[in-house]
Amino acid sequence: MIVTIIGARPQFIKAAVVSKALVELGIEEKIIHTGQHYDEKMSNVFWEELGIPPYEINLEVGSKKHGAQTAEMIQKIEAYVESKREKIKGILLYGDTNSTLAGSLVASKMKPLKVIHVEAGLRSFNRHMPEEINRIVTDHLSDILFCSSQSSVDQLKKESVIGHIYEVGDVMYDAVNAFSPIANRTVNLQSLLPFKEKDFALVTIHRPSNTDHSQNLSNIIEALGAIQIPCLWPVHPRNNTRLETLSLPKNIFTIPPVSYLEMLKLLEHCKVVLTDSGGLQKEAYWKKKQCITLRKETEWIETVRENWNTIVGPNPDKIKAAFNTQPKRSTWIPLYGHGDAAQKIAQQLKTSLYS
Ligand code: UD1
Repeated sequence: MIVTIIGARPQFIKAAVVSKALVELGIEEKIIHTGQHYDEKMSNVFWEELGIPPYEINLEVGSKKHGAQTAEMIQKIEAYVESKREKIKGILLYGDTNSTLAGSLVASKMKPLKVIHVEAGLRSFNRHMPEEINRIVTDHLSDILFCSSQSSVDQLKKESVIGHIYEVGDVMYDAVNAFSPIANRTVNLQSLLPFKEKDFALVTIHRPSNTDHSQNLSNIIEALGAIQIPCLWPVHPRNNTRLETLSLPKNIFTIPPVSYLEMLKLLEHCKVVLTDSGGLQKEAYWKKKQCITLRKETEWIETVRENWNTIVGPNPDKIKAAFNTQPKRSTWIPLYGHGDAAQKIAQQLKTSLYS
């Protein structure tokens, strides 16, 4: 049996496609939801919409400081894993959240359980990001590492990680391919847009470096106000308190967090994406949209190399310049695999854990 530990929005999306591939190969999986994300619109809606198998247990850890949140997850994950220890062959982890870190710390001390990391080898080289710390620790504790790109493989080799490395492509591309037709068929675009204009910018902001520094957030909002088209901003709850104190320019329209299918529909129809999310940078690329990244660096360097993504940070002049100057983009090529990452992961796990 494999135990999957997930707790935050992007992990639900990644697990959806891998869980399906595991079922297809007859591999038993039990899912633990740490409860890191708990709002209806940050959690439940994804499970229902993506058909993720029901979780075995929700640890209901919720929002806390990093130490308290991670510590509570560690205690609760350990208790669960110990209760099923003889049956478990591996712990499956995704990405870079505190849920990932907690899972890797527990599993790595319970040999011979294998620690399995999907989206391994990503680096921003910015240690002020909590996610960067989570990635580095998880990669070095992992026995089986699945990478989205050759650059991630190279990075892991450079760091001399001890686990086995496999380049499989990106499971989020599998998800985009699997769910876009459903989104196109079922989501009503007009019901999501509080304006009439056809061209709009899709905006998301959730990184602490932007949300927790009022000057950075104000700079971004000022720049968005200067953009000549409506900006649609599904707001991560992290911003709620600060937004109450800010008055927004007329072309910025905030809406509650959207579901994955709604996000795919918005990506399909937007003119440009402005974001500090990691996943959305790739999704913009797969949807062939220009991306302007509201961070000072990116893990997804290939999208920048191909000129589909511009790194601007919270600098208003750079944001405006990136919007006003259309870069000459390279011909679109399939970055990050061919949409079969989940099958490759499931197949490799069958070989590594069951033969
Ligand atoms: C986490 C991940 C990040 C991932 C992101 C996706 C870490 C360190 N960060 O950041 O890698 O890209 O998820 O969204 O694990 N909140 C709610 N309701 C919720 C969830 C969060 O109100 O359902 C609010 C709380 O005020 C909380 C804040 O958002 O304090 C931040 O929550 P946190 O658990 O740190 O996660 P994210 O910021 O979402």
